[in-house]
Amino acid sequence: MSPISDSDLNGGSSRRRRFDPELHQMVTNRIFQNVQSRLRLDSIDDYTRERLQAFQPTIAEEMYAILSDFYRHMTQFPQTRKFFVNSDINVLKTRQSQHWQRLFSAEFDREYISSAVRIGLVHHAIGLPLHLYLSGYNRVLCDLTTLAIHHYAGSLASSDTVNAIIKVVSLDMDIAISCYFLAENLRLKSDDPTVGLV
Ligand code: HEM
Repeated sequence: MSPISDSDLNGGSSRRRRFDPELHQMVTNRIFQNVQSRLRLDSIDDYTRERLQAFQPTIAEEMYAILSDFYRHMTQFPQTRKFFVNSDINVLKTRQSQHWQRLFSAEFDREYISSAVRIGLVHHAIGLPLHLYLSGYNRVLCDLTTLAIHHYAGSLASSDTVNAIIKVVSLDMDIAISCYFLAENLRLKSDDPTVGLV
């Protein structure tokens, strides 16, 4: 499936900002520069990667059901439903599923960072308030940790896998929040000639 093009993102309601490819590059560079230190700080090590990779097939099996529930939930409330008026939920389900698969492959390479930043900036551009975005993370995090506990029936692998899930979902959420802050910061400084020097 082809990605949503930048021109697609430029249309829509007046509350929506233009998706800015230059901003995307700048924020990706900035976050990619310090991803290794974030991984060390959050103890995302080889064992964490192993746990995630072992659990990946189970996630792949269950993701469709988790995301069906996610979009059912998010379209129940007026404050979240309004964001989906021009969206095809099936397309979003596929894109979001690809994102989680990429995260749980635990590569944390430039491709992942660039994609995570793009997603953060898309939500910022459509004017999705941060607390609603984080509510989405909360939901997926609860579903994935429940899945791990059931799958490993409360064994040691279950707590290790839950820890691994919490670590990388927090990293992904941290990137999403950073996108909002960096996008706002750079927008406020847009009259400043040093704006590119993040
Ligand atoms: C766990 C948190 C979330 C993740 C991982 C996620 C993931 C994604 C992805 C991967 C895309 C496609 C981006 C692209 O094409 O590059 C997307 C688009 C979108 N998301 Fe989310 N999403 C999350 C939460 C939410 C929430 C809570 C809402 C609304 C209440 C929402 C509304 C949308 C909308 C409306 C689009 C389409 C944007 C457009 O018009 O192009 N998302 N999301």
